[in-house]
Amino acid sequence: MEDLSLHILDIIENSVAAGATNIEIVIEEDIVGNLLLIKINDDGRGMDKETLTKSIDPFYTTKGTRRVGLGLSMLAQATKEAAGSLDVRSKPGKGTRITARFVYDHIDRKPLGNMAETITTCIAGSSPKADFKYRHRKGDQEFIFSTKEIKKRLNGVAINDPEIILFLREQIEEGLQAIQKGAKSEEIKDWRFGKNT
Ligand SMILES: Nc1ncnc2c1ncn2[C@@H]1O[C@H](COP(=O)(O)OP(=O)(O)O)[C@@H](O)[C@H]1O
Ligand SMILES: [Mg+2]
Repeated sequence: MEDLSLHILDIIENSVAAGATNIEIVIEEDIVGNLLLIKINDDGRGMDKETLTKSIDPFYTTKGTRRVGLGLSMLAQATKEAAGSLDVRSKPGKGTRITARFVYDHIDRKPLGNMAETITTCIAGSSPKADFKYRHRKGDQEFIFSTKEIKKRLNGVAINDPEIILFLREQIEEGLQAIQKGAKSEEIKDWRFGKNT
């Protein structure tokens, strides 16, 4: 896998498969600390100790469809290549919290890739009841996207409607471009408060 956004897609798919209805994705680009942090938290069924221990083993999967489970082990590998680490915490019945750390400027750190595509693919492919919150910070700039807030303003139109998905993808792309450029905080679209009607 070339981009971290594809790893993230895989990790979110695990959350969806675990029956999560609230999935939070946090990306922190800490340039000063030379650290890239990716966190994915869900309220799915979680894992017991045994599943948790085995979950980062490339030959372990609880899904009958594939012989090997690669999502977590490949992300673990990607963190190692960039002198980082992967932390997986889970409680049965409560949910799972995954934190991947990378040395930001490490030569073998994969690029982030297209997060707008990853997030909208997840929204399009999940139950409209599932909610995604995506927070992306770069330095002191932050973009926040929340499907809970968007749904309130859709007046009954389904969030996975293809036109809405396209629109949301553009919104995320714009928001991410703004924080990459270091836009002033007020200019950044913030779906949490519905500022950008
Ligand atoms: N967020 C999660 N919630 C509950 N179980 C999980 C989660 N992520 C991973 N798992 C468990 O760990 C196993 C391995 O995951 P993964 O490496 O992505 O492989 P795969 O999804 O192909 O099985 C899954 O089959 C599942 O049992
Ligand atoms: Mg998986």
